[in-house]
Amino acid sequence: LRIAVLFGGRSAEHDVSVLSATNVMGALDPGKYDPVPIFVTRDGRWLLSSLEDGSLAQPSTGTDICLVPGGRGRALAIPADGAPYELPEIDILFPVLHGLHGEDGAVQGLAEVAMVPLAGCGILGSATALDKDIAKRLLNEAGLPSARSVTIGRGAAPAFAELERALGLPLFVKPARQGSSVGVSKVSTEAEYEAALAEGFRHDRKLLAEEFIRGREIECSVLEDPQGGLFVSRPGEIVPAESHGFYSYDAKYIDENGAALKVPAELPEDVESEIRATAAQAFRAVGCDGMARVDFFLTPDMRFLINELNTIPGFTDISMYAKAMAASGIGYCEVIDRLVAHGLA
Ligand code: DAL
Ligand code: MG
Repeated sequence: LRIAVLFGGRSAEHDVSVLSATNVMGALDPGKYDPVPIFVTRDGRWLLSSLEDGSLAQPSTGTDICLVPGGRGRALAIPADGAPYELPEIDILFPVLHGLHGEDGAVQGLAEVAMVPLAGCGILGSATALDKDIAKRLLNEAGLPSARSVTIGRGAAPAFAELERALGLPLFVKPARQGSSVGVSKVSTEAEYEAALAEGFRHDRKLLAEEFIRGREIECSVLEDPQGGLFVSRPGEIVPAESHGFYSYDAKYIDENGAALKVPAELPEDVESEIRATAAQAFRAVGCDGMARVDFFLTPDMRFLINELNTIPGFTDISMYAKAMAASGIGYCEVIDRLVAHGLA
């Protein structure tokens, strides 16, 4: 089965995607899969990559790849200094891209237009889940709990005092459409608020100010089977190091002691089953299919809130999706087999 693995990408999570894809490539059983790695450059070109000694090539120029609209897997390779040629047919596209232009429905739409099967979540769920403002509205509408927030458009930021009254302090300011905590700030003062707006707007035209939830970070992996049934993993817990204050980009990917994963999380049985059931409801409410990781906050009095859904969760060494699935009896290779089976169904 020829599986095209897209990685890199135009978003701020480019580097995270490279780590994720390296692991995914390593988990593709060579007896079953013939992988075609495609590197998406920071400016959006699709270039043919290769895996050498476990490392994915990240060329800056070379052979461009195009999917043919309606081509059902036909793809053209256009070498920088040669004649275009047709690649052997691609059976399924697996975007291992995080954030905008990859996890937001864009590439999923391209797969639809090219009529190539897609591994993972489709257009609608990708688009809604990536936009924290829209996702929250859908969660609210389904009666599912999430942190209180105020959506902030460019040039329309509410006064600090107003947010303080509505959400309390500290609060978080985050881009609506970013992952890995890029552009997220914790705010306690007006000066920090101004800086947080400036930082947030560097990443998106729409921000969210969100109440600070003092609690544990709990995550569940959701995987849909070809018949539409949902498998929800046991929850895992992220334990950020004290020094980081919150599970920031640095705590995630830069500082190797930034956080620890505890899988499965130590939770009372009834709380665990309620969280798992809520993860499935959230997956449906936001319109997801295929796969997502549902992230929660759990307060000391065992109240839980949905933080967000990630339709292409990290597959890096420190990422929860595969670990939580493994702790629930589904190993890494099996996850990929199931995603592929779902995509081909
Ligand atoms: N956005 C990162 C990759 C995650 O949620 O794991
Ligand atoms: Mg995320």
